Amino acid sequence: STIGVIFDLDGVIVDTAKYHFLAWKNLANDLHIEFTEAHNELLKGVSRVRSLEILLNIGNVTLTDESKQNALISKNEDYLEYIRKMNADEILPGVNGLLNELDSQGIRYVLGSASKNAPLILKQVGLLERFEGIVDGNSVSKAKPDPEVFLIGAKRLNLKPENCIVFEDAIAGIEAANKANMISVGIGDKDTLSEADFNFNNLTEMPYDFFARLTQQKIK
Ligand code: G6P
Ligand code: MG
Repeated sequence: STIGVIFDLDGVIVDTAKYHFLAWKNLANDLHIEFTEAHNELLKGVSRVRSLEILLNIGNVTLTDESKQNALISKNEDYLEYIRKMNADEILPGVNGLLNELDSQGIRYVLGSASKNAPLILKQVGLLERFEGIVDGNSVSKAKPDPEVFLIGAKRLNLKPENCIVFEDAIAGIEAANKANMISVGIGDKDTLSEADFNFNNLTEMPYDFFARLTQQKIK
């Protein structure tokens, strides 16, 4: 196929935002920082290190580099406790159907996630083998909204950026896809993801001929 797909993980394939929230909330409690679900929105798609900086800003707290390292380790250990309990039931609606559809149309796809835990999460839900490539927080030096993660994804697919379609639930991710000159599809609230080329509340809402129409017309 002349087009390929790059999937974000958290919020598109699985809903891990709730586990990130619980783990950040624990750390915030230890640091006496008030941390709400609204604050958690700011961390979506953002790297682990940057997330800690945002949290510390919210609480107006400064930490030494060593304490920051320890905070990052303890947050992730906490998060992993939730991840290790995940299974295929946590795959979001429409994901399996879409992957089957892509397989049957011969459209290739890779993962493009900011998470360093991406391989473990995919393994837990039984999807690790389905992706042709995994570009994650371990393979990039610049976090979303920098387009690096998606540009590496396009290379893995051997496709030009303008022939790649990115599925994203985070503002930073849509921005990264647009900067990469890819077709961006926002999954979630349309008003929040207003910069996306296309919007759907979830993957079950995509029309069956979405990809066929993309290959027929020149979108960008
Ligand atoms: C995803 C999530 C972010 C998270 C980031 C890093 O992009 O949306 O909330 O901070 O991955 O995840 P990690 O698993 O490496 O801490
Ligand atoms: Mg996401």
